[in-house]
Amino acid sequence: MATFISNSPEETESFGRQFAGTIKSGDVIALIGDLGSGKTQFVKGLASALGATTTATSPTFTLIHEYSGGRLPIYHFDFFRIEDRSSAERLGLDDYFFDDGVSVIEWADRFGDLIPQSARWISFETNSETQRAITTK
Ligand SMILES: Nc1ncnc2c1ncn2[C@@H]1O[C@H](COP(=O)(O)OP(=O)(O)OP(=O)(O)O)[C@@H](O)[C@H]1O
Ligand SMILES: [Mg+2]
Repeated sequence: MATFISNSPEETESFGRQFAGTIKSGDVIALIGDLGSGKTQFVKGLASALGATTTATSPTFTLIHEYSGGRLPIYHFDFFRIEDRSSAERLGLDDYFFDDGVSVIEWADRFGDLIPQSARWISFETNSETQRAITTK
């Protein structure tokens, strides 16, 4: 377990870029932490470092964002925006999780039992308006 202290949105994005260096094909990254704790900011850095050709944004109306054009395709989910368990099940998550790409799930603990055992968990905590503690397990 290691905790990184971020003092700005840019530092969180940069931490995401750094974390991308540890990612391999088929990884599932499960993110937890309150609203505004920096999960999407982290995914922006991660996706850009993997060479995605579009900027990562919060998945809302389209429940899954796919970023391609980079080293690995990225599948970005946000379980907070998914109404209930049956909607989550209808997404066909395993087709993404067991694909060669990388899956990143915000609010993964909302339907934690749908997340594979092999997932890497990262938690985000808001310490102050501009400070976040990011813990990798
Ligand atoms: N150190 C920091 N790291 C990340 N974001 C920060 C930091 N300091 C301030 N912020 C601000 O906090 C917000 C983080 O937003 P972000 O969308 O990344 O959160 P989130 O965890 O994805 O929230 P949600 O649960 O709503 O999806 C942004 O407005 C950002 O500017
Ligand atoms: Mg978000």
